[in-house]
Order: sequence, then structure tokens, then C-alpha cells
Amino acid sequence: MDLGLSGRRALVCAASKGLGRGCALALAREGVAVTITGRNAETLERTAEEIRRETGATVTTAVGDIATEAGQAAALAACPEPDILVNNAGGPPPGDFRDWDRDAWIRALDANMLAPIALIKATVDGMIDRKFGRIVNITSAAVKAPIAHLGLSNGARAGLTGFVAGLARQTVRHGVTINGLLPGPFDTDRIRGNAGALAAKAGLSVEAFLEARARENPAGRFGDPDEFGAACAFLCSRHAGYITGQNLLMDGGAYPGTL
Ligand SMILES: NC(=O)c1ccc[n+]([C@@H]2O[C@H](COP(=O)([O-])OP(=O)(O)OC[C@H]3O[C@@H](n4cnc5c(N)ncnc54)[C@H](OP(=O)(O)O)[C@@H]3O)[C@@H](O)[C@H]2O)c1
Repeated sequence: MDLGLSGRRALVCAASKGLGRGCALALAREGVAVTITGRNAETLERTAEEIRRETGATVTTAVGDIATEAGQAAALAACPEPDILVNNAGGPPPGDFRDWDRDAWIRALDANMLAPIALIKATVDGMIDRKFGRIVNITSAAVKAPIAHLGLSNGARAGLTGFVAGLARQTVRHGVTINGLLPGPFDTDRIRGNAGALAAKAGLSVEAFLEARARENPAGRFGDPDEFGAACAFLCSRHAGYITGQNLLMDGGAYPGTL
């Protein structure tokens, strides 16, 4: 299927690794010129070069913390008029809400709610003027079913999801869609990082814990960032103009509900 994306420009946030990288790579494979962001310049440049080598696409980079105004300004300077915006940032740490003070909440809100909203605000009117835009927010399966030890994520991502639910209905008549992609367990550094404490609690090594978790999933495995990227590219395609305000769960069937 031709996704009709050749020649488009995309800003893919937090994309030097993991799910963001998967989205940038999938878009680049479709002939999109991508700008990727990340905090570590070396990792970011390495990823940019890998994507260029594999796809031949134009790949530019913007170093910075996307949760900050400076990081957002750097991203927008590198890609001022994207046709596609993929919002992403690292997830908040796990823990007990009794230990989180106001600053911990503000950090989570900045990264996982306010930064995406700021980037949408900076880019959506240009998309409306050009009569085409695709905004994909990488959130979490926690939006559909809360994850007990990830309360900061449950809260901040629900805030973003609620906000864009309203906006998505206002932009779609101008050719601009806004959707959420909700990852369940995907094989990235993040899942390994979060596994440490839970593995210790279960008396298992991180590898044994992750193997058991992967086996428990109805798919019998974790998701592959390439699969995640392909879904993102479809949501960004010309075929997806009638899909907006949706939250697509990608979890191998782990969510047990009928709907
Ligand atoms: N993987 C999963 O199973 C899963 C499940 C549910 C939700 N999620 C959520 O999906 C998002 C992506 O997760 P992932 O698994 O792809 O993580 P990952 O493998 O750790 O990759 C995170 C990427 O984001 C960049 N990054 C992190 N914080 C950033 C910031 N403040 N500003 C700019 N770049 C930043 C990292 O580069 P630098 O460190 O160099 O900045 C890296 O490129 C996270 O919010 C995560 O919580 C993941």
C-alpha cells in the first residue's frame, strides 16, 4: 500500500531509541523527511545516520530535553512546519504516590502532557492552513487500564488524552487528525529499566522476569518497535484521514476487555 507520505516532513520527538525511533524509521521508509530529537547528542546522531543509511531519507536532529521550552524550541527550529508531529518523551518513574511531591508531578506533566500540548499549539495552525496534518501522541496502555506502580504516567497521560479528545474533533475538517498510540510491553530500554525493582521483588533476575512477562502476554512475546512504527506510519498516511480522536492499543491482546 502506498501511504502517500513521500515528500512530507515529520518531527518525531524522543526518537533516538525505542518506540520513537521505530516511528521515525517507518516514516523515513515512506519517503518522509524526519527530524528526530533526544537528549544525548551521540546516540541521536548515530540513530540519524542509521536511518539515513537504511532509507536514504533526509534526517535532521535536534538535541534537547523535549520537556523543556528550550528543547521544544530546538525541535521546532530544526523542523518549523511539520506535516506530521509524533509526540513522545521518556516515561515517568515508577513508585508510590505517597512519595511524590509537587515537583515530581510537575516533571511528569511537563514531559507527558504539557510538552505535547505545547508542540501541538506551535504546529497545528500551520497544518490547518496547509490542509494536511497528522499528530500521533505516544502514550501508554496505562491510558486504557491503569498500571498500579506507574501513577505518574496514568495521571499525566490521561490529561493529554482528555485534552486532545476535544481538539481532534475541531481539526479533522481541515485535514488534521490527532490520535494516540498506546503501547503495551515493547522490547525497548524502557521496559528493561522499569523491570529492575519488580524483578527484585519477585526474587528473579531481570532477564528471567522479562521472559516470564513476555510469555504471559497473549502474543507470547513483547512488541517490536518496528511494528509500532508501522502502525504510526499508517495513522499518518493519506488513508487515515477519517480516523481521529482514537487511542489505538498495541499490547498483543493483554487488555482483557471485549471492547
Ligand atoms: N516500551 C514499552 O513497553 C512502553 C510501554 C508503555 C509506555 N511506553 C512509553 O513510551 C515512551 C517511549 O518509550 P520507549 O520504550 O521507546 O523508551 P526508550 O527505549 O527508553 O527510548 C526513549 C527515547 O526517548 C528519548 N528521550 C527520553 N526522554 C526524553 C526527553 N525528555 N527529551 C527528549 N528525548 C527524550 C531517549 O533519548 P535520550 O535519553 O538521549 O533523551 C530515547 O531516544 C515512554 O514515554 C514510555 O513510558 C513504553
